Amino acid sequence: MIADKISVRAKNIKPSSTLAVNKKAAEMIAAGEKVINLSVGEPDFDTPDFVKQVAIKALNEGFTKYTDSSGIKPLRQAICEKFKRDNNLVYEPDQIVVSCGAKHSLFNIMLAICDDGDEIIIPAPYWVSYPEMVKLAGGKCVICRYNEHFKMDIEHFKSIITKRTKALILNSPSNPTGIVYTRQELEQIAEIACKHGIIVVSDEVYEKLIYDAQKHVSIASLGDEIKKLTVVVNGVSKTYAMTGWRIGYLAAELPLAKAIANIQSQTTSNPTSFVQKAALEAISADQSFIGKMVEEFERRRDYILSNISPLIEYCRPAGAFYLLMKIGNMSSTQLAQKLLEEEKLATVPGDDFGADGFVRISFATDMENIKETVKRLNRFAERIKK
Ligand SMILES: Cc1ncc(COP(=O)(O)O)c(C=O)c1O
Repeated sequence: MIADKISVRAKNIKPSSTLAVNKKAAEMIAAGEKVINLSVGEPDFDTPDFVKQVAIKALNEGFTKYTDSSGIKPLRQAICEKFKRDNNLVYEPDQIVVSCGAKHSLFNIMLAICDDGDEIIIPAPYWVSYPEMVKLAGGKCVICRYNEHFKMDIEHFKSIITKRTKALILNSPSNPTGIVYTRQELEQIAEIACKHGIIVVSDEVYEKLIYDAQKHVSIASLGDEIKKLTVVVNGVSKTYAMTGWRIGYLAAELPLAKAIANIQSQTTSNPTSFVQKAALEAISADQSFIGKMVEEFERRRDYILSNISPLIEYCRPAGAFYLLMKIGNMSSTQLAQKLLEEEKLATVPGDDFGADGFVRISFATDMENIKETVKRLNRFAERIKK
């Protein structure tokens, strides 16, 4: 039987719950039901036309062959300039590895740092893929509790560090909460990481989707010592509405960057050639596209926050495009099921994010859907209360 031949490693991996809800919602929509899909994790904007044109031109010019497996040099140079411009971080092109999405970059990092049983600290609530990637790479996930602001409980963080602790995965702005760490909070985390020599994998894919006139701070920018321990991960998916193009990148100290580059060269090789040209254009062209998108996300977030019922408990998002919330007292799966069946709202259960009792909605959908969503959520909360 072929099923018996599947590796323990593969059997231990959970399928993505986001995709499972999407599938059920799609089936209901196909059956003619008016479901609002709030489970998506991508901007509802189109990739800017000037970016598309560059990919088309590259294709027409025959830029369709293998490239340097870590990405073409002009793109790695543009990424270095981006790090300098946006994050005040200086890297050389050899410290950059471009991959097929930030997800791929993160998995490459896990493969490069985890020996069997190495412990990776993941603060809850976390993005669903982190624990699965750690497990696939042979590492052990150690979950850090969250405090009343849905941020890392620092005392708990300190208490779970052991000799086997290899890394911390930090995600600010965060999926699924939208929390953004302040400079002071990052300084505190950096101090602990430096004291114990812990690598910080800083997932900054939502860096530009940030509200209330805040500015994103990369933990790597807080000093030389923490910069050396940090691997910064970013990509074009969320910033430029390019989720399907699959380009992500990382910056690390040279020996680690080289180890990751080796892994990539023996597995996937380069990210798609002509897409790299499009990513280069996105990163180095006029950035005003982003401002318009962020303004719209902020308008939607504000609408939700001003109109959501006080019966609903939630984490106020300061970034990204998600709202993690809880209605009544039931498990995440029960809540997601009830919202889908009774109010035709497709959400993602929070237990896979390490936030039991919560569901995540995404506000990467139009204002009409958002208004209708708030109406249905409030109605549901009233009904549950009775
Ligand atoms: C926190 C976080 N990191 C990384 C990614 C992956 O992004 P990419 O499309 O670049 O692989 C996502 C996508 O949902 C995410 O939410």
